[in-house]
Amino acid sequence: MDQIDDLLAYNKSWAERAKTDDAQYFDRMADKQNPSILWIGCSDSRVPPSVITGAKPGVMFIHRNIANLAVHSDISFLAVLEYSVDVLKVDHIVVAGHYNCGGVKAACSHEPAPDMVDHWIQHIRDIKRMYQSELDAITNPKNRENRLVELNVIEQIRNIANTTTVRRSRKRGASLKLHGLVYDTATGELQRLIES
Ligand code: CO
Repeated sequence: MDQIDDLLAYNKSWAERAKTDDAQYFDRMADKQNPSILWIGCSDSRVPPSVITGAKPGVMFIHRNIANLAVHSDISFLAVLEYSVDVLKVDHIVVAGHYNCGGVKAACSHEPAPDMVDHWIQHIRDIKRMYQSELDAITNPKNRENRLVELNVIEQIRNIANTTTVRRSRKRGASLKLHGLVYDTATGELQRLIES
């Protein structure tokens, strides 16, 4: 048995359990989805959105990338955002960052990251430059890195608020709420940073 066999074996028992608990469960799931939350998180394996929040299947539409970025030129993110807001009509958009984020660490380092990652994290280096004086005032390197994790979340919330998708939707009167959260991989706690 390899690791994938383990996953398949777990899945089999999970599906059986779900059917036993609720005979119509998969009939409803097969029909359509109606999530109320778009979750944008980091690809980091330690931050699985449904596990840390207990959100059941069908509740969250999820987009993940390195360091939970909402980049205006990223067609994948833009398509997810547009589909969530205009078609699924979610009520909440969450950006969840996390301490000990490899992407943020790499952006703090003077060593270059692997090519593509290095391009991607330029977005975080830009944020670092925007808040240079605030960050320079933090003497402890770990605290400085943690603050950059938080500032990154705050800036992604601003990016999302500035997209045409969100602006148009709000103009139409949709009650769309944006939430910036941060997860601590050392304690398992998720906290609010910003609402918009
Ligand atoms: Co990360």
